[in-house]
Amino acid sequence: MAHFFYIHYSFPTYFKNVFEGQSAYQYMNGDGREDVRPAKPSKENPAVLGTTSVAAYHGPSFMIDEVTYHYEDMDVDTILINCHYPIDENNFVLMYGVIVEQKDGVTKEEAEEMAVKTGKFIKYGFEQDVAIWNNKAPIDNPLLCEEDGPVYQLRRWYQQFYVDVEEVTDEMTDRFEFEIDTTRPNEAWRAEVAENLAARAAKR
Ligand SMILES: [Fe+2]
Repeated sequence: MAHFFYIHYSFPTYFKNVFEGQSAYQYMNGDGREDVRPAKPSKENPAVLGTTSVAAYHGPSFMIDEVTYHYEDMDVDTILINCHYPIDENNFVLMYGVIVEQKDGVTKEEAEEMAVKTGKFIKYGFEQDVAIWNNKAPIDNPLLCEEDGPVYQLRRWYQQFYVDVEEVTDEMTDRFEFEIDTTRPNEAWRAEVAENLAARAAKR
């Protein structure tokens, strides 16, 4: 959950995980961080006020991420599909594609331009995740705090893809839901962003 503040520049206002069968869902609503918005939002550089997203793995390496971007004057639906699989001990292949909704009342050219711009924005955000994947290493027994969320439950879900089908147990596939209250972390993050904005204003 905290990852969304630091990596994707958003205050997570709603966050929930559901693991069930071969799927694992992450529901996230967020408000955009004011300190990373364009200083002067314009038609070419609009401010994203927030996002609503459902990201779901279906199996170990295929993920569909449906994100609605809330702009001042409209909502734009997007879908990011990605697939990543290991090819040796240290490398994986990643393939992904992005589709952006074409809004009514815009010309083909405008829609094209918007899709390119939004696609680049999504690519930027997604590649921040990829940078993390490229630099992380497994730890079998991590020391966790409560706010880290259900890491062990996620690993039990993932374990089903490392065993033969006959060895898949209920604890790997039973429905598991986890919703985290983001009120407190957001209080701290909003203060941090207010400080950033004050520092930026003082510089002018
Ligand atoms: Fe991410």
